[in-house]
Amino acid sequence: MTTRTGHARPKVSVIGAGMVGGAVAQYLALRDYADIVLVDIVEGLPQGKALDLAETAPVLGYDSRLSGANDYAATAGSDIVVITSGIARKPGMSRDDLLRTNMGIVRSVTEQVVAQSPDAILIVVSNPLDAMCHVAFAAAGLPRERVIGMAGVLDSARFRAFIAEEADVSVEDVSAMVLGGHGDTMVPISRYSTVAGVPITQILEPGVVKALEDRTANGGAEIVSLLKTGSAYQAPGASVVEMIDAILLDKRRVLPCSVHLEGEYGIDGLFVGVPVKLGQGGVRQIIELSLTDDESSALKKSAGAVQDLVAAMDRLATEATAGS
Ligand code: NAI
Ligand code: 2OP
Repeated sequence: MTTRTGHARPKVSVIGAGMVGGAVAQYLALRDYADIVLVDIVEGLPQGKALDLAETAPVLGYDSRLSGANDYAATAGSDIVVITSGIARKPGMSRDDLLRTNMGIVRSVTEQVVAQSPDAILIVVSNPLDAMCHVAFAAAGLPRERVIGMAGVLDSARFRAFIAEEADVSVEDVSAMVLGGHGDTMVPISRYSTVAGVPITQILEPGVVKALEDRTANGGAEIVSLLKTGSAYQAPGASVVEMIDAILLDKRRVLPCSVHLEGEYGIDGLFVGVPVKLGQGGVRQIIELSLTDDESSALKKSAGAVQDLVAAMDRLATEATAGS
């Protein structure tokens, strides 16, 4: 296989070699079809994680080439770049502090990434997810098909896990759909969440369905409260790799992703999670589900929460300009 960038194997760069970045590299290496470059500002971290995974290869039997770097030259000609760089909110830090720091990191990372890989597809992971997609989209200047946020795959995976546990069935027989922004206003759509094709609303009591939806919307916080020193990384890493598979193997998977809506679902100019068809070139189609009035207003409310973050970023940018 020869890719359009001329590599023998597709090349995926992962910016931020922390917990999520490391998990992405690990799961992608196991898939054995791409070469992987890890980048971080911390000296030795991406090199060490890449070497560790390269030394795992003979045991687990993959030929993915792995390397680590502290600059962007090593990412040149990437087919996909995954952006996980950023900081987590710490005690005493306001939402604006987090937003200010991560918007600066994501903007600078995106500019450096695109300078080296103008044809790449970007998968954004850094939080707050939908707001960081806006930053990457503006900094990259790429078409909307090539700037995609990862959140819906993770949120749906959580919903699937909880449904499977409650219904006492294999996770393989459960599919689920979660729309909206990646926050507590996300919208699990139970009518479109099924066990072997049967909507869970026909199988489980309404109170049980509501409890599963609530647990899904708080899924990230549940892990943080258990881990205490960080947030989830295994399911996020695997979710990113499902998206990479869909794109690089041109699988045309229908997955919920944060994309720049331009009128779809009555939402214009905002990154919000909706089902899309992912394949070669990135987003090949935005799929518009038919929603009830309640579902539609929950999605609009969730889009409103993303809009608030975008407005806060505009305010922070104006303050920074005025202060300089
Ligand atoms: P982490 O702290 O383990 O890793 C972040 C890495 O980014 C660190 O190694 C840090 O050195 C690096 N970094 C910071 N500034 C950088 C820069 N300018 N250039 C390159 N690297 C830089 O955090 P973790 O757990 O890996 O999470 C990463 C991000 O992903 C966080 O913002 C987190 O909230 C978010 N996240 C999003 C999810 C989603 O569903 N979208 C799920 C899980 C995490
Ligand atoms: C999660 O949902 C922290 O966004 C991250 O686990």
